[in-house]
Amino acid sequence: MRQVLCLTSSPRRDTSYSNLIAARVLKELRSLHPDSAVIIRDLAGQPLPHIDADFVTATRSVVGPRTKHQQALIEQSDILVDELVKADTIVIAAAMINFGIPSTLKAWIDYVVRPGHTFRYTEHGTKGLLGGRRAILILARGGIYSGGPLKNAEHDESYLRTVLNFVGITDIQTILVEGVGLGPEAAERAVDAAIRRARPVAGIVATA
Ligand SMILES: Cc1cc2nc3c(=O)[nH]c(=O)nc-3n(C[C@H](O)[C@H](O)[C@H](O)COP(=O)(O)O)c2cc1C
Repeated sequence: MRQVLCLTSSPRRDTSYSNLIAARVLKELRSLHPDSAVIIRDLAGQPLPHIDADFVTATRSVVGPRTKHQQALIEQSDILVDELVKADTIVIAAAMINFGIPSTLKAWIDYVVRPGHTFRYTEHGTKGLLGGRRAILILARGGIYSGGPLKNAEHDESYLRTVLNFVGITDIQTILVEGVGLGPEAAERAVDAAIRRARPVAGIVATA
């Protein structure tokens, strides 16, 4: 059975384009594989606390968690890591916020990038442990960053690819919803183009 993990992170909630396209992609994945099990993590609705000294002690120190609070933090991290490890397809929907990803999504990343679980240290450097999985990025942006003068100000896709590559996920498809801030017609065009990409991208991921 296919296991899909879908992360949504837009602070715009019901008006979010990335959430809209994520729902469409999930629909396509379900139609290609009706027995798929899907977990949806609404990171904007139920944000994780930022990592802090207790988190670092719990997850990175030799002694491990020493207080109830630190134990709760590592348990939360374990749950999120477990969801990620069990998934064969990860759908990440992100609004561009100040040139990067929403901080709620960054917090999730901080909880799941864990030595010994999603990557490990070797004598030749680090090695990602999540090979064989696929990711679909759905990125909504007010401006245009795939080309033109803002190209170098793009820090959502490049960052997510870096992190996913770090944990071993290199099979990544992207659906852009770009230029939605450039007027209603531009927004409509961007959404239409993204909807058209949903089926083929789901197909690539589901059949690969
Ligand atoms: C707080 C905030 C910051 C934003 N920062 C940027 C930005 O840096 N660059 C950009 O192109 N659009 C920016 N936008 C516009 C969003 O990327 C755009 O509304 C996009 O549709 C958000 O994704 P969503 O529709 O999934 O919520 C910002 C929007 C908000 C609310």
